[in-house]
Amino acid sequence: MEDADSLLGIFSDPVAMQFYPSTKDRTETEGWIQWKLNSYQQHGHGLWLAELTKTGEFAGQCGLIVQEVEGQREIEIGYLFLRKFWGQGLATEAAIASREYAFLNLKLRRVISLIDPANIASIRVAEKNGMRLEKIIEKWEKIVGVYAVESTMDI
Ligand SMILES: CC(C)(COP(=O)(O)OP(=O)(O)OC[C@H]1O[C@@H](n2cnc3c(N)ncnc32)[C@H](O)[C@@H]1OP(=O)(O)O)[C@@H](O)C(=O)NCCC(=O)NCCS
Repeated sequence: MEDADSLLGIFSDPVAMQFYPSTKDRTETEGWIQWKLNSYQQHGHGLWLAELTKTGEFAGQCGLIVQEVEGQREIEIGYLFLRKFWGQGLATEAAIASREYAFLNLKLRRVISLIDPANIASIRVAEKNGMRLEKIIEKWEKIVGVYAVESTMDI
């Protein structure tokens, strides 16, 4: 919960939140953190905090979220970063690490990212994470691209 101030740096930014229903205030941010805490407890993973390795400064969030897509349980790699750090490859680095953790540690066969077709930066991150557009669906009362990558490891 003490990370709420850091997360508000993203959630109160209308540019960072342009593909979400709205910005979030402190109460909503604490609700978001509680959702993640529940996810850690129920699934052993969720969105994690991303810090700069050199300084420990808060940079954003990335990790593995349980989603339902057309009745199927899927694991999504999600990412949101502070605008001042965009364009430095941080989301890509964190997304690749999340995929490797999902395949190597959790032995998952596939992971996805759910992306608004207008969110070009997010689509680029998904592509650099080895994902390809699989289908377009309706979720959260809007059109969403399902980007997916399958594990090639024998397990
Ligand atoms: C999406 C997001 C996480 C990307 O973070 P980031 O650290 O800037 O990502 P990276 O630097 O690793 O990669 C971004 C890529 O998008 C490209 N990009 C960014 N804006 C672009 C645009 N308008 N048009 C084309 N490419 C664009 C960058 O050039 C880069 O690709 P490249 O390496 O091929 O040049 C960040 O923009 C963000 O936090 N957005 C708000 C939250 C959000 O929308 N999250 C995704 C929800 S699905």
